[in-house]
Amino acid sequence: MKHSLFVTCAPQLEPILEAELKELGIPSQMSYRGVFVPEWEWKTIYTINYASRIASRVLLPLLTFKCFDRRSLYRHAMEINWSKFLKDNLTFAIDANVHHKQLKNSLFAAQVLKDAICDQMRQKNGRRPNVDVQQPDVQLNLYIQQQSGVISLDTSGTPLHKRGYRQEAVEAPIQESLAAAILRLAHYTGEERLLDPCCGSGTFLIEAALMSTNTPPGFLRTRWGFMRHPDFNSIEWLKVRNQLDAHRRELKPDTILGCDRSQAAVLATKINLRAAGFSQQIDIQQADFREFNPSITPTMIVANPPHGKRLEDEDQLRPLYRSLGNFIKQTCSKPGKAFVFTSNLELTKEVGLSAKKRHVLNNGGLDSRLLEFEIY
Ligand SMILES: C[S@@+](CC[C@H](N)C(=O)[O-])C[C@H]1O[C@@H](n2cnc3c(N)ncnc32)[C@H](O)[C@@H]1O
Repeated sequence: MKHSLFVTCAPQLEPILEAELKELGIPSQMSYRGVFVPEWEWKTIYTINYASRIASRVLLPLLTFKCFDRRSLYRHAMEINWSKFLKDNLTFAIDANVHHKQLKNSLFAAQVLKDAICDQMRQKNGRRPNVDVQQPDVQLNLYIQQQSGVISLDTSGTPLHKRGYRQEAVEAPIQESLAAAILRLAHYTGEERLLDPCCGSGTFLIEAALMSTNTPPGFLRTRWGFMRHPDFNSIEWLKVRNQLDAHRRELKPDTILGCDRSQAAVLATKINLRAAGFSQQIDIQQADFREFNPSITPTMIVANPPHGKRLEDEDQLRPLYRSLGNFIKQTCSKPGKAFVFTSNLELTKEVGLSAKKRHVLNNGGLDSRLLEFEIY
């Protein structure tokens, strides 16, 4: 039986991922922290890995099993012919997510799986494969929940939010896939004039540019886990890649701009924009938004202001959120749209505009909100 693929994503992004895959012609079923794709072929794996802006990893199950304890995990892990996947001295690593009374923790369960793999290969070939947690050739995934276990190959390898353009980051950069999800929630089409007044390392600007130019999010990457799979077909992969690349188009001038008051942030954004290939088309200014007069009137503002770590920070940040509300009112075109994303729910009250919607999101484990404002 062919198992469903499981495409993982950050919490709260499941419906956005499902909708995105549907647009790519891939039906899926929503679950927790991801979606199942029951009908798939290799083309599906290549397409999601190359074109999904929201997905984190595409997992290809090798075995599903009932797991009662350490011994049953070890025994089932031995059922997989590991020499097929770990030929020619390929290195591997295991990412484990395990909730099971008999298995102490994820690390312990990963160790059991690792022992089974190494024991089997030593018995068969007289040598054991090496683990490389930094840059493994083969990334495996172990998931056990209430006695249901799945061992999968991670066809993404490095998680998909690592697009390849982030060379520099400032404090608290937003994850690329979350930034893309926010732009989808904003119904960003590329026709808008978009401003990020707290651009940090430029994630919204670059994700918007990628979307606006129909550039697949994997465009700058060179490595995916599927390339090490014995069934990998480079001709079919290049076909998928070329078909998706064929839709790329130029970025319209004067449609994306950003500012940040920090010199380091502006420098990081410039470096990242250059890596992404958009340094000529996107205007970045070092400025405090409270004194910033953009050269074009934005029709959409997307901001991720600092949210502070401690309670004292919160009080200091209240005036900043108030100023952001005023800035939006004064600067955004009318009609226009604005979005403020923050992981501090208390500070959302300070923006002083009435939100049309409050989208519930999660930023690296922090309960967060995306406030949507209609400006008129
Ligand atoms: C949470 S970070 C933004 C991270 C960004 N979304 C990214 O992905 O890198 C907040 C940014 O707001 C900037 N900032 C804070 N106050 C500002 C102000 N008054 N004007 C402009 N930028 C400001 C900070 O310098 C910081 O880079």
